[in-house]
Amino acid sequence: MVARDPHRFVNELDEPARERLAARLESRARDDVFTRLLDKYVARLALPPLARVLEVGCGTGVVLRTLARRDDFTGQALGVDQCGSFIDAANGFARDERVDSRIAFRVGDAHGVDLPAASFDVVIAHTLISHVTAPLAVLGEMARLVRPGGTVVVFDGDYASLTYAYPDHDLGRRVDEALTNVTFNNPRIMRDLPRILPELGLKLADAWGDAVIEIGHASYFKSFAETYVPYVRKAGLVPGDALEAWHDAQRRAMENGTFFAACNYYTYMARRL
Ligand SMILES: C[S@@+](CC[C@H](N)C(=O)[O-])C[C@H]1O[C@@H](n2cnc3c(N)ncnc32)[C@H](O)[C@@H]1O
Repeated sequence: MVARDPHRFVNELDEPARERLAARLESRARDDVFTRLLDKYVARLALPPLARVLEVGCGTGVVLRTLARRDDFTGQALGVDQCGSFIDAANGFARDERVDSRIAFRVGDAHGVDLPAASFDVVIAHTLISHVTAPLAVLGEMARLVRPGGTVVVFDGDYASLTYAYPDHDLGRRVDEALTNVTFNNPRIMRDLPRILPELGLKLADAWGDAVIEIGHASYFKSFAETYVPYVRKAGLVPGDALEAWHDAQRRAMENGTFFAACNYYTYMARRL
């Protein structure tokens, strides 16, 4: 069976599978790793009063809820996602957290958002670009939607660097690659952005990398493995018994404090010329 990025094909999954992905988006948002990396670029946004912010590929809305909770956010945010059940969940969570007066969510395709050019001060893609069908088209659409002088933020992992320790290094590498291939349509796109952004009229204003590494304990990479190992099994990329042995070894390593996993994440902040 061919590997199919579940976030790219989310509308072809059954509802329980979509609910599991939505649950992971919410649990990931409570993880220190996630909040640390998100807060880092949100703090540098320098939002104007009444800022208009768009997030493409907003999922259940965790990024925009984080923004709307900030005292210095006086504007309006719009989240767009291709998945109707994620948008329903996003509306529910925003109501529960009483930030729904500041955020709207709607179904849409990041490759072509039905809104006029230059409508936003800030356009964000947070762990979207690794999943989409045509990353260049999505980045071009972000460049179209942001006003001149406005900011485009692209945050995602460089999944060629995703790795879990495993004593059999060859099998460990195969599982790393299988996890990458089933989860991400564009695992290496983030390293291309310094070249691509200027071609789209976006001047790189700031960029940095964060290595996410869990040693001894596991939280972020625990839920990542729990979510995506079933997709590796389904795609048949690693023999089932070898994959079980790998996952059992990861669980034991988490219990006895010998766990190791790592991945690089990059943030690009670009100004529209
Ligand atoms: C890993 S999730 C990230 C969600 C959210 N940004 C967050 O960080 O919690 C990727 C999201 O991109 C959405 N997505 C993928 N391709 C899309 C497209 N072409 N247009 C709109 N949304 C898309 C998926 O439905 C999913 O919600």
